[in-house]
Amino acid sequence: MKTRVIDCIDKTNILDKLNDAGKILREGGLVVFPTETVYGLGANALDSEASKAIFAAKGRPVDNPLIVHIYSIEQLSEITNGINTIARKAMEAFWPGPLTLIMEKSQNVPDAVTAGLNTVGVRMPKNDVAIALLKAAGVPIAAPSANTSGKPSPTKAEHVIFDMDGKVDVILDGGPCDVGLESTILDTTSTPPTILRPGGVTLEMLRGVFRDVALDKGLLKKPDGDFKPKAPGMKYTHYSPDADVTVVEGRTEDVVEHIKERLLECSNKGIKAGVLATDETKGFYGENFIISVGSRENPITIAENLFDSLREFDKQSIQVVFAEAVANNGIGLAIMNRMNKAAGFKIEKV
Ligand code: TXA
Ligand code: MG
Repeated sequence: MKTRVIDCIDKTNILDKLNDAGKILREGGLVVFPTETVYGLGANALDSEASKAIFAAKGRPVDNPLIVHIYSIEQLSEITNGINTIARKAMEAFWPGPLTLIMEKSQNVPDAVTAGLNTVGVRMPKNDVAIALLKAAGVPIAAPSANTSGKPSPTKAEHVIFDMDGKVDVILDGGPCDVGLESTILDTTSTPPTILRPGGVTLEMLRGVFRDVALDKGLLKKPDGDFKPKAPGMKYTHYSPDADVTVVEGRTEDVVEHIKERLLECSNKGIKAGVLATDETKGFYGENFIISVGSRENPITIAENLFDSLREFDKQSIQVVFAEAVANNGIGLAIMNRMNKAAGFKIEKV
């Protein structure tokens, strides 16, 4: 398949470009589009065959359901079985934005999209190109992150091109994504509402709206035999670069000292090692390959750059990466969830 990359940063003739892409979606094709979280790999959510093509392009396990994207609340009547009080409150507070709501699905949504569940994840993105595409398509769009299954999610068009060239019809280049981590997933069918995946809408923000918010067990620990996460996707290896990642957790000074020792060990063994550091610590590691992922003072910068940084280590053929853990509150909960998963939960506490 020949993939067309369309520049949507330059807004000249943007509506014509998106009308084309909308038509491709209606005809069953695959269109990658930017959102404020990460790039999505979209197909018509009401078309079972088109949705199945998403799984093929990504190499995604078929038991992992897709999120359906909409541009207006009216579209919900087509895909859900009504809006309960929890869902209503959440959308009023956070849509459009990085929040996916798990709701009871209507029979119009094919099993391929929901992996046979009786619920559907729905989200209204906050990104001009995504909204314009949704309007041009006129149908709800099912879209997982546009990466090869298991790899870090794409936050720039170049990441998508690397993973999806030749596998999709169109890639819309909207520049780098703002949030950089996937949406928060909130199950609105449980009381209290439950966070199944932390993201840009934080636990603290949700607690500002709901008296009680639960966290799905094991968001920060490795899924084990008995434990079954409610978002099927959370059980899979995720966000993993080719490099072998280890998270180092503890007081910042101790973390730096520990990583320096581990770097020395690697260099003695002839292993090419790197550090996922922060603005505050990047100066401490000497001649090694260091990426500052952002500032501890301003963790949204870390969220924005995390996946790009993980991909960068692979580009430089780094074999082993030591990643500094950061504070676990606010957006930090989502950052650490992704970082721990990228490391396959290999965590050294110091
Ligand atoms: O920010 C995002 O959410 C991005 C952009 C493109 O919108 N999309 C995204 O999709 O991250 P994906 O497929 O990479 O992750 C979807 C997650 C998976 O863990 C999946 O298991 C969960 O959502 N999910 C989808 N539908 C669900 C449902 N009905 N019940 C529970 N979990 C669900
Ligand atoms: Mg994904």
